[in-house]
Amino acid sequence: MTLIEYKSYFRQKLSYIYKVEESDDLLKRIIKAYFNWEPVKFGLEPNYVISKKEEECLNSALKELKKEKPLQYILGFSSFMDLKFEVNTSVLIPRPETEELVEWIVYDEKLIRSKEVLDIGTGSGCIAITLKHLRSRLHVSALDISAKAIEVAENNARNNSVKVQFHQADILTKKNWITPLDIIVSNPPYVLPSEKKQMKTNVLGYEPKLALFAPEDDPLLFYKKITEFAKQNLKSGGALYFEINPIFVNELSLFLNENSFDSIEVRNDFHKLPRMVKALRSNK
Ligand SMILES: C[S@@+](CC[C@H](N)C(=O)[O-])C[C@H]1O[C@@H](n2cnc3c(N)ncnc32)[C@H](O)[C@@H]1O
Repeated sequence: MTLIEYKSYFRQKLSYIYKVEESDDLLKRIIKAYFNWEPVKFGLEPNYVISKKEEECLNSALKELKKEKPLQYILGFSSFMDLKFEVNTSVLIPRPETEELVEWIVYDEKLIRSKEVLDIGTGSGCIAITLKHLRSRLHVSALDISAKAIEVAENNARNNSVKVQFHQADILTKKNWITPLDIIVSNPPYVLPSEKKQMKTNVLGYEPKLALFAPEDDPLLFYKKITEFAKQNLKSGGALYFEINPIFVNELSLFLNENSFDSIEVRNDFHKLPRMVKALRSNK
């Protein structure tokens, strides 16, 4: 089969899940990851004859895609702010919204006088590792309840040649940190079980429930516990950054304000949804 024939075969096999542009994009990413072929190969060598071995590789990815498995789990990696992160079904696939949160911190003047940073619910380690990569003078720690996630995050730190201290801990019970902190950042679980109906199989069927869901009857549980923890462990004037479900931004801002945080700032993500919150530990 030629490359161009395979492209239409691939489109057709996935047409019940993906639009043509989406299938084409998936195939481009697969050929790059598997064979290091550039997407331009479709235009330059449409009649390239795919070998049996190459076809087998492509078909094995196609088989998984037909089960709506996310491409990142099939390839075993994802990109985050130009870094490569190993991912498997023990960790959330890093999202572009979270890149915006990291960008906020990296370019925030708050960072200039900051040293000790903690990432809560680190998953693949994307936030902690990228912060350390971009601002090497920071001392970055990260925690997660999941031992399997910590394992992935440790591999990612090693593969990206940065040092981050990882800890397995439950933030719902954790009270004290080793050292006073300048910055706490967290993208905790924030999807409600009632939102499952609107979620696609590629998220619901594969990504870890532990990373996704907050309790229906207490949607801000993680935010409240992290705020309590931050109240104890952030230095006065220290900054807390959250990614949050846009429907709870006002509630969270109010909660922060009532719990020793001020200078609360909300930022929209690229969908124009209020997705990020920053607050400073007040002297109160
Ligand atoms: C939404 S994911 C975020 C992962 C990563 N920081 C990112 O932005 O892609 C939330 C993470 O919180 C972790 N988590 C869930 N419950 C936790 C708990 N009680 N204590 C600590 N971490 C927890 C999950 O294992 C998951 O890795």
